[in-house]
Amino acid sequence: MNDDQIKNEYSKKIKLFKKYNKYYYDRSNPIVSDQEFDILKNQIIELEKKHSFLKSDNSPTKSVGFKPSKIFKKVSHKSPMLSLSNAFTKEDLLNFEKKILNFLNKKDFEIEYSAEPKIDGISASLIYIDGKFETGLSRGDGKQGEDITDNLKTIKDIPKKILVKNFPKEIDIRGEVFIQNSDFKRISNKFANPRNAASGSLRQKNPEDTKKIPLKFIAYTFGYEKGLKIENQKDFLRSLKKWGFKTNSLNITTKGIDNLITNYKRIEEKRDKIDFDIDGIVYKVNSFELQKRLGNVASSPRWAIAHKFSTNKGISKINNIEIQIGRTGALTPVAKIVPVNIGGVVVSNATLHNEEEIKRKDIRIGDTVVVERAGDVIPHIVSVDLKKRKSSQKFSFPEKCPSCGLQTIKEFNLTTKKEDAVRRCPSEGYECEKVSIEKIKHFVSKDALNIDGFGKKIVENFWSQKMIRFPHDIFNLDFDQIKLMDGWGKKSVDNLKYSIEEKKKISLEKFIFSLGIRHIGLENAKLISRNLKSSKNFIDLSNNKRFDDLLNIDGIGDTQIKSLKIFFSNSTNLKVINELQKNLSIQNDFGLKKDGLLKEKTFMFTGKLTGISRAEAKSLIEENSGSIISNVSKKLDYLIVGEKPTKRKIDDAKTLKIKIIDQNEWLKMLNKTS
Ligand code: IVH
Repeated sequence: MNDDQIKNEYSKKIKLFKKYNKYYYDRSNPIVSDQEFDILKNQIIELEKKHSFLKSDNSPTKSVGFKPSKIFKKVSHKSPMLSLSNAFTKEDLLNFEKKILNFLNKKDFEIEYSAEPKIDGISASLIYIDGKFETGLSRGDGKQGEDITDNLKTIKDIPKKILVKNFPKEIDIRGEVFIQNSDFKRISNKFANPRNAASGSLRQKNPEDTKKIPLKFIAYTFGYEKGLKIENQKDFLRSLKKWGFKTNSLNITTKGIDNLITNYKRIEEKRDKIDFDIDGIVYKVNSFELQKRLGNVASSPRWAIAHKFSTNKGISKINNIEIQIGRTGALTPVAKIVPVNIGGVVVSNATLHNEEEIKRKDIRIGDTVVVERAGDVIPHIVSVDLKKRKSSQKFSFPEKCPSCGLQTIKEFNLTTKKEDAVRRCPSEGYECEKVSIEKIKHFVSKDALNIDGFGKKIVENFWSQKMIRFPHDIFNLDFDQIKLMDGWGKKSVDNLKYSIEEKKKISLEKFIFSLGIRHIGLENAKLISRNLKSSKNFIDLSNNKRFDDLLNIDGIGDTQIKSLKIFFSNSTNLKVINELQKNLSIQNDFGLKKDGLLKEKTFMFTGKLTGISRAEAKSLIEENSGSIISNVSKKLDYLIVGEKPTKRKIDDAKTLKIKIIDQNEWLKMLNKTS
C-alpha cells in the first residue's frame, strides 16, 4: 500500500470508530459487539504505530475521543470487578473441582457450593458507607467503572439507606441490573433485547429517562468491606435479604458435581418460565476462608465458574439486509443484526435463505427478530416480533446481480419440477466479479487444492490488487511484489510459495471438485473421476463426448449432466481448464486400487441385500476397483439380485445376456462369504 492508500484506510477506520463510539456512548445502543469494537481500536493503534504520519483527533489514542463518556466520571474500583470462566460440560466441572482440590492439597474432601442462576444483565457496584448508598459504579473494564450513581438511585430494588444493626460500616455490594422480559415487551423502547435496554437505560444522561424504565436489581456478591462478619456465601445471601436487597429465589447450596448438574438441568427446564434472561448457573465455593485461599487466576476467581446453558436462540434487531453472491451465482440475502451473544458466540449475521423466505416471514429492516444458531450452521431468523415493529422498511430483492448487473434468473428444478426459490446471477464462468472471487476461494480451499495459508481474505486481497482473476493465476503470482505488501514478510511469502508448489500434484477427483461446478460436490467428483479415469476423458466432455458414460453412474442424474454441459459450453471455463492442465500434474485414477479383485467389472444391484447396506456394498465394490452403474445396458457385467428384485431389470439382463448372480456369488468374487 502506498501512503495515500494507508491514509485512506486509516480515515475509513477512524470514521467507523467515531460512529461506533457515538452509538455506544451518546445513543446508548451499541451497533457492534465489544470484541468488534476492540479489534477496530487495536487496528487503528497498530496503524499509527507503523506510520507516524497518521493523525486524527478522533483516534482512540487521543484521550478525548476515547474517554468512556463525557457524561460519567471514571472511578477506580477498590477491588476489581472480576469475570468468570465458563464451563459447558461435566468434564469442565470435574476439572474445575480437581484444580481446586489440587490447589488446596485436599483429597477426600467435599466442597460445598453456592449455585446461583446467572442473570444476563449489567453488573453494578454499590458503595454503602454507614448504611448510606453513596456511589454506584458500572463494571467498566473491571478496574475502573463509570459513576452512574444518579441513574442507579432511580432503581426501587436498591436500598438507599440501611438501618439494620449488623450492616458493615463500609461495603461494596455487587449485583445485576436487568429488565424483566414481560416489562421489556410491555414498554416501548428502541432496544433489540432486554440486556441492551438495561445497559442503555443505565447510560442515560438524564436520570429521569432512566426512571421511565422498570429496572430491577438482584444482589449476589461484594467487593471491599469493613466490618463484615460473615463466613460463607449462603449466610451472605441470607443477610442481603435481611438488609433489604433482592436475591435470587432459585439460589441453592449443594455438594458434588452430580448434584450441581441435577440443579442445572432443573433450572434449564424452567428457563422459559422465568421472567428474566439467565444464561447459566454460577457456582461459588461456599466458604469465604477457602475463597480467600484460592484467590484469582488472571481476571477470574479460582473459586467460581459459570456453567453456561447451550443457548441457541437470541433476540436482536435487523440493521440491514445485504445480498451475498456465492460461487454458483446464488443470491443469498443476509441480515446484518445488532450483535447478540447466542450460546457463547457473538452473532452479527443471519441468513434469510432467499426471497420467498423474506416474504413468507415478512422480515423487514428495523424489525426485532428471534435468531437461532444450532451447531456450526449459519444462524437464521426464526420470526419477527410484530409488536415491536415501528418504522421498519420492506426490503426489495434485486432483480439484477448486484455485482455484475446481469439480469438474475430462477431456474426450473429438475428434481422438484418447480421453479427454484433461489435467484441466481447467470454467470457461468468468470463474467461476474463476485462469482469469480468465490470460485477462486473454492479452488484453493481445504477440500479442493488445500493450499495452506491461502485463506479467503488473501484471495480478496490479491483480487483487489488485480493479481488474480482466474484460478490458474495463483501459479503465476509475483512473489517479489507480495513481499512488499502489507502484512507479508519473507517467511510468509516463502511458505505460500512452497504450499502452492506442494499442491500441484492433484487427484482427478479433487481437480474436478476444485472447478466449483454446480451440483458437482466431492461425492459426485469422485464418481465421475472413477468412471472417466483420466483428465483427458474429462476434458473430452467439452466435445460433448462421454456424457452417455456418465449417465450410467449411480448417483449422477439429469441435474448433474445439465450442469456439466453448461459448464463445458462456456469458453472461459475451457480456457481455465486448459491453463490448469499446464500447471497441475493431475493424477489419473489417483488413490484407487487399480488391480483389485473386481478390476474393470461393472455391477448393478436389484432388490434388498441381507446383512449389508447398499452403501457398504457399493463401497466394497469400489474399494476392489469395480464400479457401479445405474442402468442395465451392454456395459453391465453383473446384475446382483437380492430379495424382491425388479423383474424388468432381470428380464433386460437376460435379453442382453448379462450374468445374473446372487449376494453369495458376489461375495465369493471378493473372497468373502456371508
Ligand atoms: S459473581 C467473581 N454471581 O456474571 C465473581 N456474577 O462473568 C463475579 N453474574 O460480571 C461475579 N449472576 O455480571 C456473580 N450470581 C452471580 C451472577 C453473576 C450474574 C454476572 C456478572 C458478572 C458475570 C461474570
